[in-house]
Amino acid sequence: MKITSAKFVKGVVSADDSLSDGIPQIAFIGRSNVGKSSVINSLTHQSGLARTSSFPGRTQQLNLFLINNSVYFVDLPGYGFAKASKEVRERILKLISWYLFDSGYKQKKIVFIMDANTGPSHNDMEILRGLMEDGKHIIIVANKVDRLKKSEYKRRMQSIEDISEICKVIPYSSNKKIGISELTNEILK
Ligand code: GTP
Ligand code: MG
Repeated sequence: MKITSAKFVKGVVSADDSLSDGIPQIAFIGRSNVGKSSVINSLTHQSGLARTSSFPGRTQQLNLFLINNSVYFVDLPGYGFAKASKEVRERILKLISWYLFDSGYKQKKIVFIMDANTGPSHNDMEILRGLMEDGKHIIIVANKVDRLKKSEYKRRMQSIEDISEICKVIPYSSNKKIGISELTNEILK
C-alpha cells in the first residue's frame, strides 16, 4: 500500500471529537528528539508536514494527521527531555500516559521509535512494558541507522530485537530514507 495523501488536522491536549470519530489511529511514540516527527514526514514524503527540530521538546501536543483519508497518524510529544522544567516534563508524561492508557481511545497500532545508536532507554523500557501488558500492537522503529557504524550495526540491532519476540523491529533512517516501504506496509496492512 502507498501513502497518497497526508494533511494536518489538529493538535489536541485532551478529549476531542476527532479521536472518537471512528477513524483508526496509529500512534508514533518515543523519547524526545528520537525522530518521531521526522519519521512521519519521511513516510508521507512531505518534509514540512510535522514540525521537527534539533532541539528536544518540539512537539507538545497530540498532532493528528489524516493519511489517505482513512487513518490518523498521531504524533506524540517525546518524553525524557532532561532540560525541560519539571512541570513541562510532568505535563507531557501525563498527556502521553492519558492518551495511551486511560483515555479509552484505541490505537490500531503503536509505532515505537528508538534511537538505533543508543538502544532503548530506561523510560523506553518502562513504557514499552506497559504497552505490551496492555496487549497493544507495537512496531519498533530503530531510527537514525545512518549514524550507526557498520561494525556496530549487527550488535545494536540485535540488542533491540532482544526486547521482544512479538514486536517487529524495522531498521530506519528518516534522513537517508531507509525502511520507508517496510514501515508503510507494516502500518497500513
Ligand atoms: P520531539 O518532538 O522533540 O519529541 O522530537 P521528535 O522525536 O519528533 O524528533 P524530530 O523529528 O524533531 O527530530 C529530532 C532531530 O533528529 C532532528 O534534528 C532531525 O533532523 C534528527 N533526525 C531525525 N531522524 C533522523 C535520522 O534518521 N538520522 C539522523 N541522523 N538524524 C535524524
Ligand atoms: Mg516531534
